[in-house]
Amino acid sequence: MTAPRLRLGVNIDHIATVRNARGGTLPDPVRGAVLAIEAGADGITAHLREDRRHIRDEDIRRLMASISKPLNFEMAATEDMVAIALATQPHAACLVPEKRMERTTEGGLDVIGGHDHIRDATVRLTAAGIRVSLFIEPSIAALEAAKSIGAPVVELHTGAWCEAVAVGSGTAPREFERIRRAAEQAARLGIECHAGHGLDYATARIIAALPQVVELNIGHFLMGEALFVGLPDAIATMRAAMDAGRAGA
Ligand code: PXP
Repeated sequence: MTAPRLRLGVNIDHIATVRNARGGTLPDPVRGAVLAIEAGADGITAHLREDRRHIRDEDIRRLMASISKPLNFEMAATEDMVAIALATQPHAACLVPEKRMERTTEGGLDVIGGHDHIRDATVRLTAAGIRVSLFIEPSIAALEAAKSIGAPVVELHTGAWCEAVAVGSGTAPREFERIRRAAEQAARLGIECHAGHGLDYATARIIAALPQVVELNIGHFLMGEALFVGLPDAIATMRAAMDAGRAGA
């Protein structure tokens, strides 16, 4: 298949993490979002967690008023979050599992056990014109559940693979194979396929070679790089890595 252009969604949560470490207003995640778009991001992702540990309600309001590219609103499928999403009307909502004690989103959604309540949130958000994606493990069973839920988009959790690559584990090829097969299955099921979690320049380049994947959502690595080279440079280098992977280079 001819691969469509791969979009880059920049997750700005950790600009808010740094801000909140001190209290006050700096650094401003909305300024980061505007800069990221100027540097080539195709969209902005922000996760309003139940505990508001990084992004806050006011950040979401300011993002909606300030950015010229789509907002991907990451959220748990709870009643409160669905109400906020319906009131906010972002372009997209990515449903993620949330555990209070986790450092980041540790696994994909339980789309099988939580099927009915995820379907309920998906139906309500979709009816309001919000494009719903489900953050899932790269497994055939999770994809089939996403299909039966009626989600138009899935985001494949790349964290286990990235972790295996980072520590040089022998499980990395198997983890990548799961992602590759899941991306193919998504295409067969007519579900748009995104990917994210733990990606850096090297792993983003490899994932970019999967033609079914149309969007990557990347945060932590880019914000870490930005400390050393600045956000525009980090985004430009990521864009180049993704383009090189897409071109099969
Ligand atoms: N996609 C989803 C659904 C996430 O929860 C996260 C982490 O917030 C990301 C992508 C980005 O992951 P990372 O910050 O590791 O790049």
